[in-house]
Amino acid sequence: MNLRGLDKSRLPRHVAIIMDGNGRWARLRGKGRIEGHRRGRASVRAVVEMSRKLGIPYLSLYAFSTENWLRPKEEVHALMGLLEHYLAVEQPKMMRHGIRLLAIGDKYRLPPPVLRTLERAVKATQKNQGMTVVLALSYSGRDDIVRMVQAVAREAKEGACAIEDINEEVISAHMETRSIPDPDLLIRTSGEMRISNFFLWQIPYTELYITPTLWPDFREEEYLQALLEFQRRRRRFGRTDEQITQPLCSVGRNR
Ligand code: FPP
Repeated sequence: MNLRGLDKSRLPRHVAIIMDGNGRWARLRGKGRIEGHRRGRASVRAVVEMSRKLGIPYLSLYAFSTENWLRPKEEVHALMGLLEHYLAVEQPKMMRHGIRLLAIGDKYRLPPPVLRTLERAVKATQKNQGMTVVLALSYSGRDDIVRMVQAVAREAKEGACAIEDINEEVISAHMETRSIPDPDLLIRTSGEMRISNFFLWQIPYTELYITPTLWPDFREEEYLQALLEFQRRRRRFGRTDEQITQPLCSVGRNR
C-alpha cells in the first residue's frame, strides 16, 4: 500500500483500539448485529497485519468489556464463537509472523472452550518476538484498578512494601498491563467521544484519535490516516513547546 509520507521512524510503540460500531454498520445494511461483528473480525485481521508489517510493537484491542456480558445472550454467544474461531484460525498465522498474544481482563468468565483456545494460543505464541497483540476480554479499566489496589494493599499489609514507597511505578507494575508500555495512540471508531472503561490508568498522555468510521469499515486506509494524524501531533507531555527539542512521537514520560 502507498504509505503517503508515513515516517517509519516515528511510529507509535503501542496502539490501542476501541472497536465500535459493528451493530450500527449492520443495521445500516438491514442485517443482524452478528453480521457486523463478523465483518469487524476482518478489520481486526487488517489492523494486526498492517501493524506487523509496519513494525508497531504493541497493538491492544478492546474486544469485549465486562459490561458487554449484559448484552442479549445470543449476541454474547455469537461473539464468543467468533472469538474462538478467530483464535483457532489465527494461531498458526501468529506463529508464522512472530506475533505474541496476550489477554487481559477477567478471562475466567469466558466459556470454558473459549478460555481453553485462548490459553492455548497465548502459550503457543509466548516466545514470539515480532509483535505483541493484547486482547482485552471481559476487561474493565476500573476492575484493573481495583485489583491493583487489592494487590498493593495486600503487600503493604504483609510488610512487603511501605506505604510511603507506593508510587506510579509500583502502581503500573501491579496493573494487568504491567509488561506493556502505555499506549501512544488510542483509536476509537464510530464517533463516540468516550473511553468506555477501557484503559484508564494507562492513558495520561496518549493521543486520542476518534473517527466516525464504523469498525467494520476501518481497514488499512483508515488506519494509515490515524497514524498520519498521530505523526502530525506535537506531544509535549506537560512541557512547553520550547522545551521540546526532539520529536517526542513515541517517547513516554517514564519509559
Ligand atoms: C462494538 O460494536 C464491538 C464489540 C462489542 C465487539 C468487538 C468484536 C469484534 C470486532 C469481533 C470479534 C473480535 C475478535 C478479536 C476476533 P457494537 O456492537 O457496540 O456496535 P454498536 O455500538 O454500533 O451497536
